[in-house]
Amino acid sequence: MRLDAFVSKTLHVTRKEAKRLIEHPGVYVNGQRITRTQTLIDEHHDAVVFRDQPLHYQAQHDYLYHKPKGVVVAHRDGQHPTIFDDLNHTRLPATLNALGRLDKDTTGLLILSTDGAFIHQLMHGKHTLGKTYDVTLNTPFTESVKLLEPMTLIDGKGKPYQVKTPTLHHVEGAQVRLTIYEGKTHQIKKMFHALGYEVLELHRHAIGSLCLPTTLHPGELRPLSEAEKTQLLLEATT
Ligand code: URA
Repeated sequence: MRLDAFVSKTLHVTRKEAKRLIEHPGVYVNGQRITRTQTLIDEHHDAVVFRDQPLHYQAQHDYLYHKPKGVVVAHRDGQHPTIFDDLNHTRLPATLNALGRLDKDTTGLLILSTDGAFIHQLMHGKHTLGKTYDVTLNTPFTESVKLLEPMTLIDGKGKPYQVKTPTLHHVEGAQVRLTIYEGKTHQIKKMFHALGYEVLELHRHAIGSLCLPTTLHPGELRPLSEAEKTQLLLEATT
């Protein structure tokens, strides 16, 4: 593995940041300072040290998952099948966690990962990643102006909070596509409910710039590519 890729993976920084750290304050491989970022190292056997701390490589698994209807985003649920029950037929690492939640009846893009630091950075990075949803309402939507006005909702603990202004992409009859910038429980349903609408169908189309591939059917998953992971990190942290 290239040294910059190793540093990026173990310190959970972008490739660009890893290159900067290799230049300054520097990284040591088997006791020797290495400044060439493309240097190939053996990630399992070479001793890599950064700021006097050994860096240990652990392969991580990240996936894009098309959540189907009727399963809850949890490891266990007394009542309903979970996404992990749904995925049981595939061999997956036991330490897989979901990035955020979707309601039981919501479909669409979910990111699953064994990489706790990656999930943390996406959830609590400098920038909140926008989540784009396709919403089907009970009746044609005519309140675009009000949707973009300041709105106060009540969170799961009964506390009022000011909604960050969403981005409205398009409205066609009862179909609305919008991006929200916070992940509070039932956020979309509450927003439309506050305007007098009922959400009949909710589908997550994208997280940041990452769209659910049209070839990924409900219940299917595919690995997140290195480029997709880096791009999401970049959007959340820089
Ligand atoms: N907003 C909701 O109301 N439900 C979801 O599952 C996601 C966003």
